[in-house]
Amino acid sequence: MRTFIKGGTLVSATGAQPADVLIDGERIAAVVEPGSAALGEITADEVVDAAGKYVVPGGIDAHTHMELPFGGTFASDTFSTGTVAAAFGGTTTIIDFAVQTTGAQVRASLDSWFAKAEGQCAIDYAFHMILGGVDDAALKEMDSLVDEGITSFKLFMAYPGVFYSDDGQILRAMQRAATNGALITMHAENGIAIDALAQQAAERGETAPINHGLTRPSRLEGEATSRAIQLALVAGSPVYFVHLSASEALAAVSAARHEGANVFAETCPQYLYLTLEDHLGAPGFAGAGYVCSPPLRTKHASHAADLWRGLRTNDLAMVATDHCPFCMKDQKELGLEDFRAIPNGIGGVEHRMDLIHQGVVEGQLSLARWVETCATTPARMFGLYPRKGVIAPGSDADVVLYDPAARQTISVQTHHMNMDYSAYEGFELAGRVDTVWSRGRKIIQGEAYLGAQGHGQYLKRGLCQYLR
Ligand code: URP
Ligand code: ZN
Ligand code: ZN
Repeated sequence: MRTFIKGGTLVSATGAQPADVLIDGERIAAVVEPGSAALGEITADEVVDAAGKYVVPGGIDAHTHMELPFGGTFASDTFSTGTVAAAFGGTTTIIDFAVQTTGAQVRASLDSWFAKAEGQCAIDYAFHMILGGVDDAALKEMDSLVDEGITSFKLFMAYPGVFYSDDGQILRAMQRAATNGALITMHAENGIAIDALAQQAAERGETAPINHGLTRPSRLEGEATSRAIQLALVAGSPVYFVHLSASEALAAVSAARHEGANVFAETCPQYLYLTLEDHLGAPGFAGAGYVCSPPLRTKHASHAADLWRGLRTNDLAMVATDHCPFCMKDQKELGLEDFRAIPNGIGGVEHRMDLIHQGVVEGQLSLARWVETCATTPARMFGLYPRKGVIAPGSDADVVLYDPAARQTISVQTHHMNMDYSAYEGFELAGRVDTVWSRGRKIIQGEAYLGAQGHGQYLKRGLCQYLR
């Protein structure tokens, strides 16, 4: 099958220009100037009129949690439902987190994640590995996983008793990463201090959802971020911060980068658009829908503005969703009596490309930076470039036709995620996905899903391409 996408504006990490794109089978065959001599030689089974639209590389969401076991329940999107929702939003690759819970073996845990995803996904997928128990066996397994294309590992400074690693464990994992080339990705919040604050709040009878945020102050994200950077410098390893939410954490990352350290970070749309007061503090139990960690930050400080600035300046390299959906009914409701029992997570895999494009519309980012933070940098950061993250001859034909003139209103009534509410209900956005190809196959056209369960393939990743 050959598809010729004609008359559009090709947007890449370096800018926007008129260009036509030829897909042949699963790959990009050619990118040509409109009206160039090569045009006459091109034959195609389908010619797509892209006039007035952007042609962009398929988005890469490097932080999702399909079916994550958490807080006595499971994230409500399966690999099947979650990847279809991702596709509707212009994301053609996810990197999900396989989980080694404390006490389990790394290899068996990873195998169970392969089994969950195999034959289920609408789009291509890869894995990071969560290490919930750094010991000699886990450290040894890191080396073999790197050889198998699992080249990044998540550690938690939060959630004592669940995923938590102490500083010695973190240091040892970083030392290993320094030798095997892996990237340590870090959940940086001081979980020991947070648990003490949360217990004190509960003892005072302060059990509403907003207390989740009030007991996780931004300083404790800043402190953990600074500490992790020092540990990485001692170990001689790079470090990548997931879901960075706070100005204090960004300041630590910026300072380390200024010194030339290999320190990277992502943020997520929820920290750019949602706040502690307006969302986590919503009346009654509605705030439970906004319980995630790190928590939404106060609007009475400059967290969100600082994060947008960080995205502009590259102190924040990229945007991922931390997609971890739970329904209100029976899931978030587990914490009706106590905010500590609300499963942590917000679903958003469907809306990342649109919400960051809205940042372009509102003057926060350039078009090129939209593509860079949502597709190209994730591919480079996690060893998928140039197969993914770019529209160039030889790359996978993961292509999104994006209509900047369209308008949409986000709603639970129309989204495709398996959630009974939307964290972005009523958001009015300029622009929306028109058509999506995944490895050359058209999988989304307007409101229609044309893909197939199991079309998505597992991606063996290389090492981070920002390091020598
Ligand atoms: O609240 C969140 N972020 N849930 C998912 C687990 C994690 O820490 O990423
Ligand atoms: Zn986390
Ligand atoms: Zn996460």
